[in-house]
Amino acid sequence: MPPASDLDHIPHLPTQPLVGHTLLSLKDFLGFARRNTQAFGEVYRIKMMGRWRISFTSADAAEYILMDPDHIFSAKQGWHDSLGTLFSGGLMLRDHDDHRQHRRIMQAAFRKPAMDSYLALMAPELDRMMAGWPVSRRLSFYPAIKDLTLRLGAHVFMGLPADTPEAQALSRRFIDEIAAAITVIRKPLPLTKYRRGVRARRALLDRFHALVETRRQGDGADFFSQMCRATDDEGRHWSDAEIAEHFNFLMMAAHDTTASGLSSMLAALTDFPDWQDRLRAEVDALGAGPMTPALLEAMPQTEMVFKEALRLVPPVALIPRVALRDFDWNGIRIPAGHPVSANITMVMRSPEHFTDPDRFDPERFSDNRAEDRNHRFAWMPFGGGAHKCIGLHFSMMQVKCFTRALLSRYRVTRDDNAPVRWKRLPIPQPKGGLPVILHPRP
Ligand code: HEM
Repeated sequence: MPPASDLDHIPHLPTQPLVGHTLLSLKDFLGFARRNTQAFGEVYRIKMMGRWRISFTSADAAEYILMDPDHIFSAKQGWHDSLGTLFSGGLMLRDHDDHRQHRRIMQAAFRKPAMDSYLALMAPELDRMMAGWPVSRRLSFYPAIKDLTLRLGAHVFMGLPADTPEAQALSRRFIDEIAAAITVIRKPLPLTKYRRGVRARRALLDRFHALVETRRQGDGADFFSQMCRATDDEGRHWSDAEIAEHFNFLMMAAHDTTASGLSSMLAALTDFPDWQDRLRAEVDALGAGPMTPALLEAMPQTEMVFKEALRLVPPVALIPRVALRDFDWNGIRIPAGHPVSANITMVMRSPEHFTDPDRFDPERFSDNRAEDRNHRFAWMPFGGGAHKCIGLHFSMMQVKCFTRALLSRYRVTRDDNAPVRWKRLPIPQPKGGLPVILHPRP
């Protein structure tokens, strides 16, 4: 680790004894980032979990870091502290040529025919699950959507019937693994979450590994089967161990982000019932048949609302990297070896790109306003460059299926009138769980 004195020329706000800025940032991530930006502009440093991290808050800087034209940024080292041990081998834990090769293979599992088969698996199952949600009484939305997306994942990602004991056991292990990834104690000491997570990882990898051969020979439409059969254009494929690692990572990358995004979207729909009515009208206009790729295209307003929810509460608040060589940003020398991050939360709150940026206003994504096109990196909840989220379209598809299943059945109100407050790190979740009431439609 390079010495902190390398960074003396990069400004920072006063630190608190022992904890640096950790508590300030955890308590009010957006407010703290704003105080820094007001004081220092687009580059400053914060001390989180004992390490200095250099934060970049402009779209230009985010573009430079994520497009990486000089090939100097490592995603692997950037994500190592949080994901390196439990999710090693995943795409975000790979760099440059190695990453490119692995991503090309994974791309096969996201081509159009594969996506259509996920849609065919997902839409009816989502519909069935949501028909079973409790009506006319308090429902804590965040835990409910986490549970639903996990059970749905067993079906769409693994091709297992959602409510079987095996699917439930996999879900429990998966919850332990993710809990370990975000815990403070990062050694597998007895009785710690970390130890449970490390064990869960081993059990998951063993299970995935054991399934590879049969899935490779079969014609399953689920994600895991598609990944077992995936090859790049030159016919290269992964080893069994690599498939297990990639799948383990993919489940993690897909799960909490989607649950977080759906929660901020639902919070907005209950805060702005006029938008809920607009989306319900859009859903009703689809008619009663099964969900199809063409119907997904007929939901532009749902897409605008989801985009706005992700702009205001991005599931990945900042994207970490480590510079492998010194670089210069607008006259400031950034020494190699220190963590840097593109603070996408701040980029997407910038008045330079978005009118009245704190306001919920999905129309800003309409064709005639298109504020997201003011800068290539103005709207970037899915990142950008080589590591840009490979699941973006999958995520949009899932949100549209969810919106249709929800709003064709229910009108949704909040069970409290308090503004939703967010715990932003490591992945945003609504404090209090977002209590809502589903009212059956006549
Ligand atoms: C609202 C939902 C989601 C959000 C906001 C989101 C956000 C992101 C972001 C910001 C990155 C880039 C990280 C970086 O540059 O270091 C990323 C990467 C990734 N995401 Fe997503 N994601 C979402 C859903 C999904 C889903 C549904 C899947 C899979 C079906 C998925 C799979 C991945 C994978 C595999 C990567 C690594 C790509 C690479 O390194 O090449 N994500 N995601």
